[in-house]
Amino acid sequence: MLERIRFENYKDKIITATQAALLFEDGMTIGSSGFTKAGDSKAVLPAFAARAQNENIAVTLITGASLGHTTDSDLAGAHALNKRMPFQVDPVLRKEINKGTILFIDQHLSETAELLANGHIPAMDYAVIEASAIDENGYIIPTTSIGNSVTFAQLSKKIIIEINTSVPVSFTGIHDIFLPGEYPDRKIIPIVKPCTYIGVDYITVDPEKVAGIVFTELPDSPAEVTAPDEKTIAIAAHLVKFFEKEITAGRLTQALMPLQAGIGKVANAVLSGLSKGDFKNLTMYSEVLQDSTFELIDNGKMNFASASSITVSNECHKKILNNFDFYKDKIVLRPQNISNSPEVIRRLGVIAINTAIEFDIYGNVNSTHISGTKMMNGIGGSGDFARNAYLSIFVTQAASKDGNSISHVLPMVSHTDHTEHDVDILVTDQGLADLRSLAPRERARVIIENCAHPEYKEELRSYFERACEREGHTPHILEEALSWHQQYINSGTMKKASVLQTI
Ligand code: COA
Repeated sequence: MLERIRFENYKDKIITATQAALLFEDGMTIGSSGFTKAGDSKAVLPAFAARAQNENIAVTLITGASLGHTTDSDLAGAHALNKRMPFQVDPVLRKEINKGTILFIDQHLSETAELLANGHIPAMDYAVIEASAIDENGYIIPTTSIGNSVTFAQLSKKIIIEINTSVPVSFTGIHDIFLPGEYPDRKIIPIVKPCTYIGVDYITVDPEKVAGIVFTELPDSPAEVTAPDEKTIAIAAHLVKFFEKEITAGRLTQALMPLQAGIGKVANAVLSGLSKGDFKNLTMYSEVLQDSTFELIDNGKMNFASASSITVSNECHKKILNNFDFYKDKIVLRPQNISNSPEVIRRLGVIAINTAIEFDIYGNVNSTHISGTKMMNGIGGSGDFARNAYLSIFVTQAASKDGNSISHVLPMVSHTDHTEHDVDILVTDQGLADLRSLAPRERARVIIENCAHPEYKEELRSYFERACEREGHTPHILEEALSWHQQYINSGTMKKASVLQTI
């Protein structure tokens, strides 16, 4: 314990998770560490979910991003949440959000800390922050993510520190903590390369605010790494070919530009695809470091990776801890308002690769809502990166489900997260549409011909041609624009009767 709590005044603050959970009152706002399952609260929030099973109590919960294990499920199942923000990926919570029983604010991940700091959303009553240790000044040494913890520690009225003994005390030297300060005298964020260090490696805490210290030994829940399949391999191949063409044209070098990749099987396949291509000295300025990042570092293709969390499989987790000295000077974790800062993303010229649920013939992208109404996960960091990127790329499969009953290329998206103005390149397993310098009518032709599934191409061409007859800068047939979604709801397929007869 001595090596985990090096600040004398905290030694009598050790309490159990159950005792810590009893500090919360109905209607409070709680901030918790945790970003894409990494560095989340594994003792206090689960204990609060257990308490709420037998008590009528609910809070607003703000995190960095998604939580691991079954924490969000348990909280949602126990009716322990009034409101949740800024991101989630949990099936039980998702169901409650879509039923309307839990309110959800879907936020750009760079913005939550800003909104709190500016007083646009009320500050937290308690912050629960995971630590590997507490230093001689009572400050927190973070674990596998930083997320919003710095802002939470600064603004919350009280703090509960969760010391996770599954993270070695030697897990240091990879955290870079910096906040730009307050308006109107806010500082420049002086990151000029992904590897620039600008801050300190601990989270400052006012010891007076520490209400309790809880111990846990539960590790982060592992990432589920899905092996690349036919479609994701095809998407990756189109993208690699595009990068190679850009190099030939002299717009990129073999180092590309700093990469950002969303989580999931497509992003993983794309990064694995880069392993095979003729690239070198790659860097990453992203929000999550995943298995594929470490593969690229291992095979000498990537020099440095910056993010806000490490979310990897068990196997990769072991590899990182066993070879920490090798990785230590090749990775950095930052607060999410720095990892996702528009200022830095624009300065570095990041290539952003994110996944769409669907996109339309003009290049508008829906990343969040199934059929325009049901929340999937949230916008996450995709908007932070897409709007400010050097190249903003969105990928998805051309069609999905049995019989290709869903087309992911549509006349009009049912919800817009990324407008046509923020989208440069669209890729499906069918091909790639380079939208740079194209007007809407040009975009439509390229998107339909290059990205749509063959079973939907004719219908999309017909829609576009008939829309053009009505004129307009962005031609549409408004009464038909969302009919594909309606037809899916009515009949279980987006295919029109005429198409079904021919296949
Ligand atoms: N009606 C019904 N279902 C639909 C649909 C429609 N109109 N359009 C898509 N779907 C379904 C798909 O068929 C698929 O269902 P399945 O899982 O049963 O096959 C599902 O919606 C989409 O999931 P999937 O194709 O498996 O996507 P994914 O796991 O690659 O994730 C996002 C895609 C967009 C949900 C995910 O990337 C995300 O949440 N993005 C936003 C956050 C983000 O981009 N963060 C980036 C930084 S990490």
